[in-house]
Amino acid sequence: MNVPLSRPYKAQRALEYLREVLESPYISTGPFIERFEKRVAEISGAKYAISTSSGTAALHIIVKALGIGAGDDVITTPYSFIATSNVIIYEGATPVFCDVEKEHLNLSVERVKECIQRKYRYIGGKLVNRETGNTLKAVMPVHIYGYPADMEKFLELKEKYGLFIIEDSAEALGSVIKINGRWRMVGTLGDAGVYAFYANKQITTGEGGVIVTSREDIKNLALSLRNQGRSLASEWLLHERIGYNYRMSSVNAALGLSQIELLDEIMKKRRESFNTYIRLLKDVDEIEVFEEEDSVRTNWFVFVIRLKEATLRDKVAEYMKNKGVATRPYFSPPLHLQPVYKNMLPYKEGDFPISEDAAKRVLALPFYTGISEEEQRYVVKVLKEALSKLS
Ligand SMILES: Cc1ncc(COP(=O)(O)O)c(C=O)c1O
Repeated sequence: MNVPLSRPYKAQRALEYLREVLESPYISTGPFIERFEKRVAEISGAKYAISTSSGTAALHIIVKALGIGAGDDVITTPYSFIATSNVIIYEGATPVFCDVEKEHLNLSVERVKECIQRKYRYIGGKLVNRETGNTLKAVMPVHIYGYPADMEKFLELKEKYGLFIIEDSAEALGSVIKINGRWRMVGTLGDAGVYAFYANKQITTGEGGVIVTSREDIKNLALSLRNQGRSLASEWLLHERIGYNYRMSSVNAALGLSQIELLDEIMKKRRESFNTYIRLLKDVDEIEVFEEEDSVRTNWFVFVIRLKEATLRDKVAEYMKNKGVATRPYFSPPLHLQPVYKNMLPYKEGDFPISEDAAKRVLALPFYTGISEEEQRYVVKVLKEALSKLS
């Protein structure tokens, strides 16, 4: 049996919506964009949703819209996908990494606090980096694997230091966290957040992303920046600022709409498959799985295990591959050890021990909407086989 790592869910209405787009004059920009954006805003609880060509484009626009650029620092996590830190670098700003917490591998609020106190001092109302003279402008937590970061505490930091909070919630559409007794979707809690729609996400548009925000100034700038710097009132060939072509097409939006309409059903199926894995893996002592705390509900984006014995991870992955089961070591190497950053950022091995350790132990198993119990049983059988042969 072959089990892929992920498989896009195809909603029944997809063909109907795609036909509607193809039969209309609006293949690029058109009504499906607004319909999709409206649905994202409704579901997330954000005031505005602005679609983009990718999650990376969405994050980049937020960094730019907040005026973050050369001479600015943004604190973020080294345990993420590289788009998180690249968008900071695109604007000439500097990513400052802080380690993650051990339980769910999200940016640690404690490490961030410690980093602010150690690296920065207040000068003229700004947090100035003692070494570089840069100004700390923002913190960018990532809800890794869809698991909500500790937003309540990050919002306290925002309040205390006057920082922007950018949520990289690319993986977290549908994940909620209880704040003051109310369930809120992550991505909508800071100044702005993003959701991404690549084919491995629970909702896919093929390629695509969306910015969610309740700040009107960010919304207006985002609309202009994604659209070659035109203003809302501009003629097609009038440009007010340097912008980008970061627009989503109607074809992508139609696909996205057909899926987001089924978000509840998709989440329910994923939760069931998630619980099936938990049940099947109960007696596997060589691994740990990530538990959900009472104050959060994840969106069951990927299913990752953490091997207790780090040296086994790659061998297990190889064994499973040979038996037709795709897996992925996440996030290996972590961002601070990526070759591209070697001569760009001042980090070395040993700087972020929890991220580095996780990068050696974490393995994603096949997981997608509609994965069958038979497929999951096969994955677990092969995993157990690998562990017993290789341990
Ligand atoms: C944490 C995180 N940030 C940003 C992105 C970028 O999204 P995209 O691939 O749509 O550009 C991803 C993509 O998977 C991601 O996982």
